Amino acid sequence: MSRRGFLKAATVMALAAATGPVLAACGTSQPQPRGYDGEPRPLPIPPLDEGKLVDGHRHFTLTTQAGSAEILPGTTTSTWGFNGDFLGPTLRMHRGDDVEVDITNELDEMTTIHWHGMKLPAWADGGPHSPIEPGETWSPRFGVDQPAATLWYHPHPHGRTRLHCYRGLAGLLLIDDDVSDNLDLPHEYGVDDIPVVIMDHKFTDDGELDETLDDDLGLMGDTPVVNGITNARFDAETSRVRFRIVNGANMRFYNLALSDERAFSVVATDSGLLSEPHEVTHALIGPGERLEIVVDLEPEEEISLVSLPLEGNFGIPEDNDEAPDFGFQHEFEFLQITGPAEGTPASAALPAELDPAAAEQPNLDGVIEREFALNTFEINGETMDMERVDVTIDHQDPEVWIVTNENPDWPHNFHIHNSRFRVLSIDNNEVEEIGTYGWKDTVSLPPGATARLAVEFGYYPDPTVPYMYHCHMLWHEDNGMMGQFVIVEPGEEAALEPMSGHGPH
Ligand code: C2O
Ligand code: CU
Ligand code: CU
Repeated sequence: MSRRGFLKAATVMALAAATGPVLAACGTSQPQPRGYDGEPRPLPIPPLDEGKLVDGHRHFTLTTQAGSAEILPGTTTSTWGFNGDFLGPTLRMHRGDDVEVDITNELDEMTTIHWHGMKLPAWADGGPHSPIEPGETWSPRFGVDQPAATLWYHPHPHGRTRLHCYRGLAGLLLIDDDVSDNLDLPHEYGVDDIPVVIMDHKFTDDGELDETLDDDLGLMGDTPVVNGITNARFDAETSRVRFRIVNGANMRFYNLALSDERAFSVVATDSGLLSEPHEVTHALIGPGERLEIVVDLEPEEEISLVSLPLEGNFGIPEDNDEAPDFGFQHEFEFLQITGPAEGTPASAALPAELDPAAAEQPNLDGVIEREFALNTFEINGETMDMERVDVTIDHQDPEVWIVTNENPDWPHNFHIHNSRFRVLSIDNNEVEEIGTYGWKDTVSLPPGATARLAVEFGYYPDPTVPYMYHCHMLWHEDNGMMGQFVIVEPGEEAALEPMSGHGPH
């Protein structure tokens, strides 16, 4: 850790662990979250679910349910999960599959389940117009027609998304394709291809999830929870490990690094593999975003996956006492990692080329440009209205979306359903860690920054059901920082039928 890092760490409110190498030298004067006294526990690996092949389609079954989990060692916490107490299975599918999912809601309130990052018909997207009432089953069906990627699924009931995610409704969705099948990257799930779902929680004195809302920060937690537990460790069996990292936190951005600040390779962003590995020492990941990284390990060494204080504080003035503290100077340890057994040979170089098609840029000649201004809980001066169509897209071409964060001291991050985009530029931005490489579906926006996005949409025209675009900081989204777009045939008009996203139209 750098000298600068140490100095910053001294001001950190929320330190994750007392035991890891990052924090060992930081002393013990900072307040510690609960639950870090004991031995680290092995990283739980969510069960892998490849569905069942039924009549030529791949069929999955999910049930949302209430339960309890030992998030903190020795403490039982009430939670929600899919097919279990907390979080959900990792669904794995292949490009070209025809997928159907039966989702039964055994909670006592309505929810919806959205496939974040998937291009698919609007009724199957699982946004706020696809409610699943208690006791009901919803069965979206969609073809998988996009490159290999790490996506995720989570609830999307308007105004309640933060709480449903916070209680534990989140899981990974992996897409494979012929390119990823033939690539020399670690790919054995749970062995050298490791899911890392990062959230954060706060806890009440009796060990329950603290759902007290902060006016500015909503459900921002102080304790990192990785795959459902605090203080996790992973003992590698191989010298090279791929981590598929999902930021499933309600509100936090993380500045990912390894504890010795060594270089690692980003091999995929939100929407899939890069054209070639991209080496970094830090990588910013905002709420909803994913990164696949490859880490090379020496035998028996001890390092940690951490989040370090972000230089420049994401452009948020540090001397403004009025502004909420979005935690960019906080430091966390997510995962202690031990290298493989003595004598394990080092890995060969990474493939120089990953997915060559990822290098292709969309053709932007003559495309439509649209502007979106984010300001407190509004986009273009309005909060979300389930009955209003904000954008109608009646063609198959890409568009350029120009998204500005107008708040002087708030971060935002912008997500578009049924799409992938390239970040063409981010103006007025000094935050180097924001990745502008690769295909993405969510982009982090410092105060004052304007991002130009070249967006490609899935084309499944349906005038009746909208897709969402929104800030993925869930307190912002739930407070209305969301808009609706429909995709229609050329010349057709939107004809919204609110809450009708149950089946094909
Ligand atoms: Cu991850 Cu509209 O969501
Ligand atoms: Cu989404
Ligand atoms: Cu926001």
